Amino acid sequence: KVYRASTTAPVNIAVVKYWGKRDPKLNLPTNSSLSVTLSQADLRTLTTASCSSSYTDGDSLTLNGEASDVSGARTQACFRELRSRRAALEAVDTSLPKLSAMPVKLVSENNFPTAAGLASSAAGFAALVKAIALLYELPDSPSELSLVARQGSGSACRSLFGGYVAWRMGDKDDGSDSKAELIAPAEHWPEMRALILVASAAKKGVSSTSGMQQTVATSGLFQQRISKVVPANMAAMEEAVKGRDFAKFAEVTMRESNSFHATCADTYPPIFYMNDISKAAIRAVEAINAKAGKTIAAYTFDAGPNCVVYYLEENASTILGTFYPVLAEVTGWKEGTAGIKSAVEI
Ligand code: DP6
Repeated sequence: KVYRASTTAPVNIAVVKYWGKRDPKLNLPTNSSLSVTLSQADLRTLTTASCSSSYTDGDSLTLNGEASDVSGARTQACFRELRSRRAALEAVDTSLPKLSAMPVKLVSENNFPTAAGLASSAAGFAALVKAIALLYELPDSPSELSLVARQGSGSACRSLFGGYVAWRMGDKDDGSDSKAELIAPAEHWPEMRALILVASAAKKGVSSTSGMQQTVATSGLFQQRISKVVPANMAAMEEAVKGRDFAKFAEVTMRESNSFHATCADTYPPIFYMNDISKAAIRAVEAINAKAGKTIAAYTFDAGPNCVVYYLEENASTILGTFYPVLAEVTGWKEGTAGIKSAVEI
């Protein structure tokens, strides 16, 4: 007999950035963070988990049709945690099939190019954890499952929810209070939109994991960021989201992105994630806001050159009609050549 369950998980883009670990093994962060979940119609991972005592090759993972490694410490941590939760259920109710003892087969697919450098590990680990939790019929809430997904990839803990999600850093050594919670569902702010500019599809030079370790070890700005800048930005961002205050949301989003990339530049040796197209995208957003006489667009960049622009539906034609022409003027960038564009509904 084969037991099976399927689920999807969305991509999230942080507007208050996670950057720095106080415990690299458990993926415990040095600051809280907050993200916006992108629409699953555009960006999501679909994962099917199955298990059977007839599977003889041990646990396995196929990602976009190719065999992928499951022996990594992070994947193993997720498997171990989920199995022990299932085993606890089986110990209480002995009539349950012993799924915890069977090998698990995962088949996972992204509906976006994995190579595009978009946050695929977040959706990937979130879908992995959700699919196995469903297979095991675990009663755990999304927040409880976020504790497991966090051990796969920090940002993955925020992909257990849609909408606006906070990851509270927590202060316990065992990480039991370092989990995600919903700030507001997507329906709370239905006019919110995101546009993604793929400024380079090349794989990123410095991985988030090693980049943040280098920052923690060498940056002086980092201390200021985690003690003052981020706590203030978290509070302001929660207020902006709850009050649907776009100008405030946008300012904090842009300041956060700038603070994060300044901290990267202050790392020794410095880490640069943005390229010339990224910088031109910032200027294009500034030009749009200057022309509108108010803030109607916000940029943000993660650990790579790709730009996400947040805006409200009422300004869609202004944003879409201005962003690419301005970008083209500044860089000679042409749609369909150096990147792809997509307007994503949140
Ligand atoms: C810049 O979640 O990829 O996107 O926990 O080491 O897997 P690991 O890091 P990861 O880092 C994401 C960093 C970021 C900011 C964010 O998403 O908050």
